[in-house]
Amino acid sequence: MPSTPSQPTVLITGTSTGVGLCTALRFAGAGYRTIATMRDTGKAAELLDLAKAASVQVIVRPLDVVRQASIQDTVDGAIAEFGGIDVLVNNAGAGFIGSIEQTGDDDLRRIMQVNFFGVWNTAKAVVPHMRQRGSGRIISVTSIGGLIGQPFNEAYCAAKFAVEGMMEGFAPLARRMGLHVSLIEPGPVNTEFVANVRAASAGTAAVLLPPYDRMFNAYIGASAGVFAQYGQTGDDIARIILAAAQAETPHFRYITSDFARMVVKPKVADMTGDSVVEAFAARLGD
Ligand SMILES: NC(=O)c1ccc[n+]([C@@H]2O[C@H](COP(=O)([O-])OP(=O)(O)OC[C@H]3O[C@@H](n4cnc5c(N)ncnc54)[C@H](OP(=O)(O)O)[C@@H]3O)[C@@H](O)[C@H]2O)c1
Repeated sequence: MPSTPSQPTVLITGTSTGVGLCTALRFAGAGYRTIATMRDTGKAAELLDLAKAASVQVIVRPLDVVRQASIQDTVDGAIAEFGGIDVLVNNAGAGFIGSIEQTGDDDLRRIMQVNFFGVWNTAKAVVPHMRQRGSGRIISVTSIGGLIGQPFNEAYCAAKFAVEGMMEGFAPLARRMGLHVSLIEPGPVNTEFVANVRAASAGTAAVLLPPYDRMFNAYIGASAGVFAQYGQTGDDIARIILAAAQAETPHFRYITSDFARMVVKPKVADMTGDSVVEAFAARLGD
């Protein structure tokens, strides 16, 4: 079943829930051969049920972005089976709440592994194939946390900043080789993300000593309001990812909402960086 211009192939990471699941459905609905990867294919039931209900087809494959062999096997298998990968969507990611003092070495490494090394290694597996073809798109879901550092998100933001730097560095080379590189930068999105962050960060609460405890409670309270008021849906983000895949000349950067653009604006407007620090300090209570 070779990939043809009439049916391009997309490979998406992290499709068991949230943005990844919605993205798989959107691409399948748009006629892409959709390789929906997840680290635990035992979690595929929801995606498969939704695909069936929408009368679209997704092909579920295992891919754990922290395991090099898993990435290589699935990428090589997809190229061999379907003749190529036209679009890679690096979506898999995980958040973490805890400031520098509360973040253990294991947690820091895990967050960097999933959010940064996972993207690096998946892109590295796909780039030689796209380079040889002289075409292909690599779309990575980062975050406004990849542009703006946020308190208690130091590890997560460090990883997303790293992806931004990597992809901004690669984008000009990609362009010369006929490839396109895009970043998708959401603000809050109402998915499983926050519940997963809470579960992953449960241990850090035990080491929240003064003065962090007070600032943490104020910040978490303010953040909940932001998700309720400005949160997008997984499908909102999926539609933007699909648009980046289909645009004749895609942008490098897609900031996904007016709220997200408002948060990011001081980063470019104030070259001293002070406005960003002051804006987030104000959200840490009195
Ligand atoms: N939600 C937000 O507010 C928000 C805002 C900005 C950016 N983002 C970014 O958007 C992307 C999608 O997040 P989401 O909101 O959809 O959150 P989510 O519902 O928690 O989904 C995260 C996905 O990543 C997968 N994943 C985690 N570790 C993995 C690994 N080692 N290998 C492969 N897959 C792995 C998860 O799989 P399991 O089910 O197996 O854990 C899940 O499918 C992430 O990159 C996130 O950083 C989210």
